Amino acid sequence: MTVFGVENDMPGNEQKKDLVERIERLRKEMRAIILAHYYTIPEVQDVADIVGDSLALARAAESTDADVIVFAGVYFMGETASILNPDKVVLMPDDRAGCPLADSCPADEFRVFKAEYPGAVVISYINSTAEIKAESDIICTSSNAERIVRQIPEDKEIIFGPDRNLGGYIMRKLERKMILWQGYCYVHDAFSWDVIRKAVEKYQGAELIAHPECREEVLEHADFIGSTSGLLNYTENSKNRVFIVATEPGILYEMRKRAPGKTFIPAPKDASQPWSTCTQMKQNTLEKLYECMEKRRPRIIVEEGLRQAALRPILRMLEMS
Ligand code: 13P
Ligand code: SF4
Repeated sequence: MTVFGVENDMPGNEQKKDLVERIERLRKEMRAIILAHYYTIPEVQDVADIVGDSLALARAAESTDADVIVFAGVYFMGETASILNPDKVVLMPDDRAGCPLADSCPADEFRVFKAEYPGAVVISYINSTAEIKAESDIICTSSNAERIVRQIPEDKEIIFGPDRNLGGYIMRKLERKMILWQGYCYVHDAFSWDVIRKAVEKYQGAELIAHPECREEVLEHADFIGSTSGLLNYTENSKNRVFIVATEPGILYEMRKRAPGKTFIPAPKDASQPWSTCTQMKQNTLEKLYECMEKRRPRIIVEEGLRQAALRPILRMLEMS
């Protein structure tokens, strides 16, 4: 079976029910909490204790009293949970599910880049490796980036990485120059106004909503721009009934649940692809979720020196947002 264009060996209904029951049993026995991002497949979202955006999931990982955190997301998310919880067991269904945006910013190259601007405040998007976090002063997510940048004194230079689209969006919104690392998310950067415009013309009256990881040419036409939870709140509360959604289509599952009478159309990527999928997020299957709990691996452990260095800017983010 395919989910938004990605092959997925989805179990049949009976097998699925059985897997869910086994996961529920293990969850109790292990005193585990299951966290899942909105871009994961519906079956995984259904079994999670908390489904959220990056900030909500980091907060949940920080405040939980569970013994085990099972993180259905991409690697930097599990890694962040582990940085916040050195005494807990952090498991991921698939630790090879990385985020290409995070991986587009190698620490050695970033150090050279940073050295060109001594004295600059380094703000890194949470979609970054532990090494990049350790090189940063403050971490941000798409839901608090604006609030965090606003708190930096005007006379300070800011380095922002690794996402150039989110950085550019904040720069334009706050009319404040920042030095940007030129990374991008392949899922969001793939959207173009040329293609989306056709959908906007087709669905007259629909609102275009977009994640700030999209390019400027898309954002400048959007009726609303926000993080995944921002987009969800907007569609739930808006008087409008039809939305073209320029982000990863996994989020449509929660959008439809929260506003069943409304229509959600994934923004098309190109003429042949009606959406843009994060293949890495879709690696989190129900089977792998069960298996990681049963085998207690893959476990995410961050070396203590690196953990301490990466923790500081994450805590700073949590204080500032
Ligand atoms: P959110 O924090 O908006 O959920 O974004 C996560 C992400 O990976 C977007 O591509
Ligand atoms: Fe990374 Fe983009 Fe996937 Fe988000 S959608 S996890 S930024 S590749």
